[in-house]
This record gives sequence, C-alpha cells and structure tokens, in this order.
Amino acid sequence: MNKNVRKAIIAGNWKMNKTRPEAKTLLEELKPLVADVKGVEIVACVPFTNLETALAVTAGTNIKVGAENCHFEKSGAFTGEISADMLAEMGVEYVVLGHSERRQYFGETDETVNKRTKAALAAGLKPIVCVGELLWERECDITEEVIARQIKLDLFGISAEDAKKCTIAYEPVWAIGTGKTATAEQAEEVCAFIRAQLEKKYDKATADSMTIQYGGSMNAKNAEELVKKPNVDGGLIGGASLKAPDFTAIIKAAEAN
Ligand code: PGA
Repeated sequence: MNKNVRKAIIAGNWKMNKTRPEAKTLLEELKPLVADVKGVEIVACVPFTNLETALAVTAGTNIKVGAENCHFEKSGAFTGEISADMLAEMGVEYVVLGHSERRQYFGETDETVNKRTKAALAAGLKPIVCVGELLWERECDITEEVIARQIKLDLFGISAEDAKKCTIAYEPVWAIGTGKTATAEQAEEVCAFIRAQLEKKYDKATADSMTIQYGGSMNAKNAEELVKKPNVDGGLIGGASLKAPDFTAIIKAAEAN
C-alpha cells in the first residue's frame, strides 16, 4: 500500500472533559513534548468551551485544534447547537463527526452525519468521520455490511475532491472506553476494507490518499502495533489523550512508523 502518500493523524478526542484552566495545563504540558515531531499531524479535539483556550495556547505550534461536533444548518433556531461557520471563523481546523457516542446517546444517524459532513466541508473544516460496528453486529458477522453502509451514507453526495479533505476514523463501538482494543489484525482488516470501499466509491488515488484512523482504547502500549499496519494511518484517542505523556507516546509511535 501507499502509506507514505498520506498523512498520519493522531487526534485526541477529549469528550466532555477539562475546564478551561485544565485544558490550558494539558496543552502547555503537551507542547514541548511534541515540538520536534515531524510527519504526524497532531490534533486536539476539545469541548466547545475550550476551543478559544486551545487555539490561543497552540498558536504557532504543531498542534491543530478540532471540535467534537457541528450542526448542519448555517444558523437559526437550533438551541444548543454550534454551526460549522462558527468554528471555522474561530480558526478551528478539524471536527469529529458521527462519533458513536453521538449516535448512541444523541440520536445521530447516518443522514445527519452526512449533512454535518457536508456543512463542515462547505465551511472549510476537515471532518473526521467516525464509523464502527457494535459488538452484536461483529458477533453476527455483519461488520463489513455495517461499515460499507456507513461509508456510503455518511459520504453520500460528497465529491472525491471533498472526500480527500476527510479523515475516516474506524472505531469499533465495543472497543471505545472499554479497555478492549481491537487487535492490530482486526483494525487492519477493517481499515483495508474501508479503503476498498473508498476506492469503489471514488478511485484508487483518492482512496490511497485518505487518512484512515483506528480508535478505541488505543494507548501508549498498543499504539505502535496498530499504526505499523499498512492501512492504519493514525488514531483517534479518547482516554489516553487526556494525559500528555501517554498522548505523546502514541504520537511518537506514529512518527516512527
Ligand atoms: P477511547 O475513546 O480511546 O477512550 O476508547 C476513543 C474515542 O471514542 O474516540
């Protein structure tokens, strides 16, 4: 495969963690640890309330800032929502979309993930689109069907040119926050399957150029094994991104592979 034609991206997904002073402390600790990292895009996806702090603390560094969601309408009566334009105007670069926690707890569907992805792209943001099967679906041996469906629906109507601005995060739902990581072989198998779906939908050059991350209990210990795989181009990291030394170890593993 053409691992060297695409960007490795290690993104932290902070979820609903950290007040502003805590966010500042974590990023200040991270900055010097990763200052010399080359060839890996480092992203901190933080709660909306931390975006301004994160942007200020990381200005001029190699750490990019992302949000954890955005709405699909440009503006209007959507109490509690944040638009893609609002994020882009702040200088936010990335946005996580369709995370399984959004799908599970907040009624997110492939249709809304697709709409949010289009809105994010229109605003100039780089979406990190999450897909992944439930344990029950894996046990029923329909992982590939589930993933193929999510890729088709979530990227519906998105051009190859825009798809290249997207990262796909493969996050088996049973591995998120459970301490139960997919084996490197399982992660590679599904990431390769995702790339094949992208090739089918677009073309080989597009599929080869897109970053596909693994996510789900990725940590300082198992990161190397995962990112060594030819189709695993980085990670979306929850728990371990909240500790600067652990997050750094994952970034360094990606840098070395
Ligand atoms: P985890 O979360 O690393 O804590 O399992 C990953 C994610 O939800 O993106």
